[in-house]
Amino acid sequence: MEEDTDSRKQARLAILELANMISVPMSLNAAVRLNVADAIWEGGSNAPLTAAQILARVIPTGGGDAENLQRVLRMLASYGVFEEHIGGGERKYSLTDVGKTLVTDEQGLSYGSYVLQHHQDALMRAWPLVHEAVVDPSKEPFERANGEGAYDYYLKKPEMNELMLKAMSGVSVPFMKALLGGYHGFQNVEKLVDVGGSGGDCLRMILQKYPNIKQGLNFDLPEVVAKAPQIPGVTHVGGDMFKYIPQADAIFMKWVLTTWTDEECKHIMSNCYKALPAGGKLIACEPVLPEDSDDSHRTRALLEGDIFVMTIYRAKGKHRTEEQFKQLAVSAGFNLFKAFHVDHFYAVLEFQK
Ligand SMILES: C[S@@+](CC[C@H](N)C(=O)[O-])C[C@H]1O[C@@H](n2cnc3c(N)ncnc32)[C@H](O)[C@@H]1O
Repeated sequence: MEEDTDSRKQARLAILELANMISVPMSLNAAVRLNVADAIWEGGSNAPLTAAQILARVIPTGGGDAENLQRVLRMLASYGVFEEHIGGGERKYSLTDVGKTLVTDEQGLSYGSYVLQHHQDALMRAWPLVHEAVVDPSKEPFERANGEGAYDYYLKKPEMNELMLKAMSGVSVPFMKALLGGYHGFQNVEKLVDVGGSGGDCLRMILQKYPNIKQGLNFDLPEVVAKAPQIPGVTHVGGDMFKYIPQADAIFMKWVLTTWTDEECKHIMSNCYKALPAGGKLIACEPVLPEDSDDSHRTRALLEGDIFVMTIYRAKGKHRTEEQFKQLAVSAGFNLFKAFHVDHFYAVLEFQK
């Protein structure tokens, strides 16, 4: 093969970029662990700072290596997390819109917890075993690495359970703001159950906007709801959605079906069907895969999340297309279907009994 053509040179570059790509998430994790985003943001100033100035904020007692921090910041700047300002012989860094998603808000939330959640030791142990999901999907890479499934594992480790709750809230609260601005399907609901509702943030936000909902049930595993905060109008209910789902006029479910196999999804959706009256709605918010495999941020975020599900949760759990969700709902008995695209990652899928 000719190795001096431009296309071969580009190809060698591209494969080196892919082979070194682990530096990207691990450096992002480092930046979150060091709390760099809050240090730069400082109440909204977002003034460009040198690595030494950032270091002085993240380690106020002194010490640390500014050059190594700069190496991390520089690389992440090339992925759009920080903006690099070069002048006067110095490199300075401020936050881009992407970097701002890592700033802790007044509720103590950000996307930082989601980054940390993904890089805990137990999850990291599963990643070298992705090929095992191809060879034998009967056992998840996470289970091969850790001896039990992810949810069971988290529940025995209070610190993982708490980080999971915080990560879910950090991702869900901004999405829910977008959903409540663009979707109006809660108008005639009086009793709503959120299945797999985690700490209850989604339900809290829905109830704040829709006072017509007199009763909100946040349904999740007993160990999860035991850690959930008290929320006015919300009753936390511990249980197993594979056994029973509390009755309500409508069921909300966000980011739940994705982690289960087709058979398990049918089972969950059939239990939803049983819990609803005639005309009742299942409102599912899930990542929805496009048909194309292009290199857009949207397609990549969804395809990468698909491999995450395969590796950590269920080897045959998956991100699905709209059509695949529709077929699952029909097999569980639902007949009417509408999709609302209120976000680039999640879609709202409405199924009626
Ligand atoms: C990816 S999280 C989504 C949480 C929340 N809906 C959100 O979007 O922020 C999936 C949720 O399903 C819950 N879950 C897992 N197995 C369950 C079961 N058998 N019954 C009820 N909830 C379950 C988990 O505890 C977790 O809170």
